[in-house]
Formats: sequence, structure tokens, C-alpha cells
Amino acid sequence: MKKRPPIITLDGPAGSGKSTTARAVARRLGFRHLDSGALYRALTFALLNSGIKEEEWPDLPKEKLDRFHIWLRPAGPRFEVLLGERVLNDELRTPEVTARVSPLSALPAVREWLLEAQRQAGREGGLVADGRDMGTVVFPEAEVKIYLTADLKERAFRRFLERDEREPSVPELDVESEKIRERDERDSNRVVAPLRKAPGAIEVDTSFLSFQAQVEVIIDHVKTLTER
Ligand code: CDP
Repeated sequence: MKKRPPIITLDGPAGSGKSTTARAVARRLGFRHLDSGALYRALTFALLNSGIKEEEWPDLPKEKLDRFHIWLRPAGPRFEVLLGERVLNDELRTPEVTARVSPLSALPAVREWLLEAQRQAGREGGLVADGRDMGTVVFPEAEVKIYLTADLKERAFRRFLERDEREPSVPELDVESEKIRERDERDSNRVVAPLRKAPGAIEVDTSFLSFQAQVEVIIDHVKTLTER
């Protein structure tokens, strides 16, 4: 039987550059990129616009979640995230969504509900998937697992620069760091699928690496692990 192309997982805390790195690695390998965080963000966006009160979100049964048709559509080197027929992009990264996505992602019903779409995306391999539980829960069979980290202040700096297109002042950097720290803490301490370095994952600390260098480091690991 012909072996399917590999799956590469990139997990790590907020602002470690997972999505941009995963996209670049996928492009280099001719694989498709899955940004799993976009699915959790899509549900947050859908709920914010649904009229369902936020206090009720923790008790939403699967049948209610099914009302939101959130799905992945292969589109060249990536998967688009759709809500019904609407392709979601910038609306997923608003401060309103970012502030609410982590508590919602901690709900077991939500994680269970989104699991199948992610596994389907990896059915044929040739995937670079980034998130929090790609290597631990969604694709435990992945051939290459990377855990991407960086110093908190560095991550906050990069995140601010990317969003506001300028460098933060010292107080702004402190505020950003605190927001990221809180989200990481929540993602790491939840009961279901917490943020963890998967067994066998290679840790790559990008604090002192240029973007190009971190992509190269990962490509090197992929080559070593898959061309044996
Ligand atoms: O880009 P950033 O790292 O800030 O976030 P993201 O990857 O878009 O993920 C947003 C949030 O979704 C995370 O803080 C997690 O709470 C949740 N998430 C998750 O629980 N599991 C995943 N596989 C991906 C995201």
C-alpha cells in the first residue's frame, strides 16, 4: 500500500508564530496548511453574532452547535473556514473574538464538535496543522511534531507589531504580554486537550531566530524525520 504524505503538527502558545510558520512550511513542501485556531475563532464569531447570551455558551448542546454550519474547504495551499457559504478571514481576529475564544475552546462539547472536521483535513496527509492540541489529540499519529515557543515579551512584541503595524510602547507591551499570558494559562490548564508539548515533539525556541531561520529549522527536522 502506498504510504500517504506526512502530517506535520505545530503546537505552542499564543504569538509563537505558529500560523505564519506553518503556512511557510506548507508552501515549501507543497502541503496544505490547517489553522485549527480559525475553527475555534469561527465558532466564537458565530456565537457573538447569534444573539445567544454569553452566559449560555457553556451549556450549549451539540444540537445547538450544529445550527452553525462551520466547515473547512480546501483552497490551494490552505483550508478556508466557512460559516454557511461565507468565507471568514479578518473577522476572526478582532479583539472581541480573541478575548472570548479561549474560554469557549475549553468546553469539551466544543472540542468534540470540531474534531471531525480537523481529522478529515488530514485524511490524505500532506498537511501542516497548527494549534494547541494538534500533536497530542487531533493527529497523534503525525510523523513530525514541533512545539514552537518564544519568550513571552517577544511574543507580545510580535503580536502587537503584526496587528497595529508599529512597535508598542513599554506600557502597551506590558498590556499585550498580560493578555497573552492569561490566554496561555487558560489554554494550558483546561481539562480537555490542554496546551502541551506532545510526546516526541521537537521544541523550537524562536526567541532569537529570524522567521526564515525558524522555517529552515523545521524543514530540516521534517527532512530528517521523513526521508529515512
Ligand atoms: O494565533 P494565536 O496563537 O493567538 O491563536 P489561535 O491559534 O488563533 O487560537 C485561538 C485560541 O483558540 C487559542 O487561544 C485556544 O484557546 C484555541 N485553540 C485551541 O484550543 N485548540 C487549537 N487547536 C487551536 C486553538
